Amino acid sequence: MIYFDNSATTAIDKSVLETYKRTSERFIGNPSSLHRLGEQAGVLLDKSREQIATQLGVKKEELFFTSGGTESNNWVLKGTAIEKRPFGNHIIISSVEHPSVTETAKQLESLGFEVSVIPVSKSGVIDVSALEKLIKAETIIVSTVVINSEVGIIQPIKEISEVLTKYPSIHYHVDAVQAVGKIPTTDWLTSRVDFASFSAHKFHGPRGVGILYWKKGCKLAPLLTGGGQENNKRSTTENTPGIVSSARAFRLLFEDADLKEKQMRRIRNYIAENAAKFPNVVMFSPETKSIQAPHILCFGIKGIRGEVLVHALEDKEIFVSTTSACSSKKKMSSSTLHAMGVPSKEAETAIRVSLDERNTLAEAEQFLIVLKQLHDKFEKING
Ligand SMILES: Cc1ncc(COP(=O)(O)O)c(C=O)c1O
Repeated sequence: MIYFDNSATTAIDKSVLETYKRTSERFIGNPSSLHRLGEQAGVLLDKSREQIATQLGVKKEELFFTSGGTESNNWVLKGTAIEKRPFGNHIIISSVEHPSVTETAKQLESLGFEVSVIPVSKSGVIDVSALEKLIKAETIIVSTVVINSEVGIIQPIKEISEVLTKYPSIHYHVDAVQAVGKIPTTDWLTSRVDFASFSAHKFHGPRGVGILYWKKGCKLAPLLTGGGQENNKRSTTENTPGIVSSARAFRLLFEDADLKEKQMRRIRNYIAENAAKFPNVVMFSPETKSIQAPHILCFGIKGIRGEVLVHALEDKEIFVSTTSACSSKKKMSSSTLHAMGVPSKEAETAIRVSLDERNTLAEAEQFLIVLKQLHDKFEKING
């Protein structure tokens, strides 16, 4: 089997699973309980938070655990909307965001907020000068993705941060779900970033654990109110085994991160260069190296719908997606490709290969052999 769908989710690491199991068995207390078992669980949570904070170079008080990237993104947008409503009602997102941002913005729009969308270039890069023109006195938040999940474009977070430095009262949120550990943290966790979202299942952690970086001093309303967990910012009993094992996955993610990035890039580029030689292949991922995510490649075979290719590859035990996992099932073509101006007929052919450090060049070779066979077969059928 070849698993090239790591941007949808990754397999849990064996040692992470072991940590999950051990923590579930040994630390049964509720961290809020007054007794020893509660205290032990609380200490473990604190250590996990500290480990992740050290890795990111932030304070442990600036990290909050959530249920995933979607919740982190919802929290920042909705929490800002609630908190800053007296000061303004204008929200800015880009046209290449994950649905957990676009759909949340739509919901807020239906509640009376105004949403502006920053356009992207043909390569899918956010137009920073257009962003500046959209900012107004009522703007309360700007939210941009770091690495787009469908096509794999690295966004100019440093440039956006520079623009936003002139507007210190606007919250700046980055969705770093596809970026953390894949490209250097310093490329996107700038001093201007107020909030950043992460999701453990994207880096061999368990499902259902997210992390939110929340810069000290910024104000955000809680979405989950109740028992006052997470410093009274997110109520619900903490997912101790999930959090502790996610902290381990986080540490592993950063071990030899440079080497892993190089390895993924090598495989990605090998597939891109060779697939591009097939006459009917159309590349959608950017050609410019500096904006290519190391682990994502998006392309299509002319005249073949993405889902047909996904299933044909699956028959050969190769697993990829049609762009994002969310749009795949709904049979929607990629919203990112649409934003990049790719005609619908072409966008419908798109598939996404997404790698992690465990993939090998041998898998890439095998993938290319099968892809060529399918390419030629479809060419014959289509005449
Ligand atoms: C960029 C991006 N943001 C947010 C999410 C949502 O993360 P989760 O599945 O943890 O809710 C994803 C998941 O694919 C993503 O790729």
